[in-house]
Amino acid sequence: MKAGKTVMHLLFAMVLAVSVSAVGTSEAASVSVDQKSTVHHGTKVSFETHSAECGVCHAKRFAEWRFAAGSDMKTVGVGSYHAIGSTEPMYTSMLGMMDQSMHEFCQGCHQGGNALVVADKVNDIPASRPANPEEGTNCLSCHFDGKKIVGGKDLMDPVFCAACHNEKMGMMSTYVEWLNEYKGGKTCQQCHMEDGNHVFLGYNSPSFIKKAIAISEPVVPETISAGAIFDIGFTLTNNGVGHSVPEELIRSMRAKVSIKDVSGQEIFSQETVYYKRHSFFGENPADTVVIKAGETKQVSIPGVVIASAGIYTVSVELLQDSNRLNSAFNTTAFMGSTYKTIIVQ
Ligand code: HEC
Ligand code: HEC
Ligand code: HEC
Ligand code: HEC
Ligand code: HEC
Repeated sequence: MKAGKTVMHLLFAMVLAVSVSAVGTSEAASVSVDQKSTVHHGTKVSFETHSAECGVCHAKRFAEWRFAAGSDMKTVGVGSYHAIGSTEPMYTSMLGMMDQSMHEFCQGCHQGGNALVVADKVNDIPASRPANPEEGTNCLSCHFDGKKIVGGKDLMDPVFCAACHNEKMGMMSTYVEWLNEYKGGKTCQQCHMEDGNHVFLGYNSPSFIKKAIAISEPVVPETISAGAIFDIGFTLTNNGVGHSVPEELIRSMRAKVSIKDVSGQEIFSQETVYYKRHSFFGENPADTVVIKAGETKQVSIPGVVIASAGIYTVSVELLQDSNRLNSAFNTTAFMGSTYKTIIVQ
């Protein structure tokens, strides 16, 4: 019965998409603001409302949400991560591995009903949305309270995001981290929705991820002799993120120190790895190492030896892997680097 219903919704969505695009190009411009508001705040809005219907009047927001338009997101043209949250391959394959009884839980956030009506947003999650399942987190997930369209201050509060970015099992604790760790005074919306942008730039934007962590230059002794042991030090400061990094459980961050000779050949490299552990994956949460909001990690690489005299480059490179558990889905994001040239006597 459920599958039949889904097919019906899909057909409904397709029919709507066709009729909406016809209206979108020809008539939208001639609709007065009064008429728009009537349609907009009228009784027509329900979970069946396709996001493309909102897009008829809110074309910019729709294009940002639906195509990640105007961004450097990896999925530009395909969609914002909210829009593809129920269809992207990493999610659908993981969902497929889950017992059917888990599906409603996953869909509560990835294909959410209405976040606004969740009373205890810090602990609980929305019910899943029965209609338009392929739209992930859509306009209705965020703007519909079951009766009417809502915007403004109810959505500007970070606790609103907590409905899907925080829950009681500690798999997702972004809001609580923001509340407890972060002293920078910005909201989630101020960092992730500059000028109201609905792409929601985050991990998957190459430019955005470079704002996260400040990396110092590598620190080495004034004089280094061939064959002698020395330490390389550096610091990583989370001064750009309102929560811990890495954030998502399946990501891991690597600070890679390497030494290259003048020909560019790597003669030394070592990585320091950071990630959240969770009992859900059979790990001990107590072993978690992340960089909290505002925190500076002092890193020291001891016992480094360079055998022969010459000129070398010492570099620190910060990388984040999108999936530490499944290499088939893993991609690596570049977060920044620093370097120093040294002379070995
Ligand atoms: C027929 C045109 C039209 C449609 C369709 C439409 N809107 Fe609007 N919407 C408007 C107008 C006009 C305003 C008020 C002026 C403005 O802010 O742009 C508005 C305002 C808003 C606001 C700001 C309200 C506030 O209190 O801050 C939100 C949020 C919004 N719309 C969301 C949606 C969503 C979600 C949909 C789809 C369910 C939708 N709109 C469909 C025309 C429309
Ligand atoms: C993940 C939650 C989320 C989704 C999904 C979402 N919005 Fe919003 N929207 C917000 C928040 C939060 C604000 C208020 C933030 C601001 O104005 O900076 C907002 C503001 C708005 C506004 C009023 C202010 C403005 O900048 O235009 C409109 C209109 C709007 N959204 C339309 C839409 C439409 C249309 C969709 C679907 C294509 C959509 N939103 C999807 C969270 C969302
Ligand atoms: C109805 C649930 C829901 C709500 C409400 C919601 N989100 Fe999300 N958000 C998600 C899901 C699910 C994903 C991950 C989708 C995926 O990658 O499969 C996500 C992903 C993101 C991303 C990641 C983008 C990237 O590059 O990976 C950011 C940033 C984000 N949300 C910010 C916010 C902010 C800020 C708010 C509050 C204004 C908010 N979200 C409200 C469900 C929601
Ligand atoms: C001071 C700015 C700032 C604030 C405040 C902030 N974030 Fe972020 N957020 C970032 C940056 C920068 C990144 C990219 C870092 C990374 O993912 O490594 C990020 C990453 C994310 C991601 C992607 C994580 C991933 O691995 O896919 C999500 C989701 C997210 N933030 C949600 C939120 C929510 C929800 C809030 C509020 C409770 C919030 N952020 C507050 C700056 C901020
Ligand atoms: C509390 C809401 C919530 C629940 C429940 C939830 N997710 Fe997510 N999921 C998110 C958010 C938000 C993100 C984006 C990353 C972040 O916030 O750090 C995400 C990211 C993901 C990603 C990574 C996608 C990417 O683009 O890298 C996968 C895969 C995923 N979830 C699968 C699942 C599965 C399977 C379930 C059910 C067992 C599930 N999620 C339950 C909110 C949720």
